[in-house]
Amino acid sequence: MSISVDQFKQGMRKLGGAVNIVTSSHDGIRAGLTATAVTSLSADPPRLLACVNRQGATYDIISRGRTLAVNVLGVQHKDLAMRFAGMDGETETERFDDGHWSSNGDGAPILSNALVSFDCEVDSIMDVGSHGIVIGNIRSVIIPDGANYSPLCYADGAWARLEIIE
Ligand SMILES: Cc1cc2nc3c(=O)[nH]c(=O)nc-3n(C[C@H](O)[C@H](O)[C@H](O)COP(=O)(O)O)c2cc1C
Repeated sequence: MSISVDQFKQGMRKLGGAVNIVTSSHDGIRAGLTATAVTSLSADPPRLLACVNRQGATYDIISRGRTLAVNVLGVQHKDLAMRFAGMDGETETERFDDGHWSSNGDGAPILSNALVSFDCEVDSIMDVGSHGIVIGNIRSVIIPDGANYSPLCYADGAWARLEIIE
């Protein structure tokens, strides 16, 4: 028995998650997208993974540049998250006009006021249908000083904040 795309979407809307901007660069071209399909993989060796649509510009740059950064967003980054999800009509190259971005040499763009950024080299990419599972070897963990910890979340089709319970 198979389910419809609509059933999949209805179910996945209930799977709330933290919002990130996954970035990469190659030959001076930067690319990035908003992604919730990001997870920790292993501590030793330090690895994470991100699921990236193979149709997009970001996947293309990741697979050629072999760099990857996961920038974890706070609630103050909602507009940036929309921008990197293509929800504001800007082109891919214009996405970086907003926000303060830097990089380690040829590395992927790092958002200066992210809650945390994981700077990675691509270990491997497993193509599974429409998406690539990108595994990154984490080269550095950047936690900006004094960042106010209020992660941006996406749940039930809406932007949300995390509520701490006792
Ligand atoms: C909340 C949210 C989460 C998303 N998560 C992912 C994701 O995990 N992987 C992905 O490939 N696209 C995800 N998207 C869609 C991409 O952000 C969007 O398609 C983007 O424009 C792709 O950019 P690109 O063409 O540069 O690759 C998400 C969008 C939103 C709004």
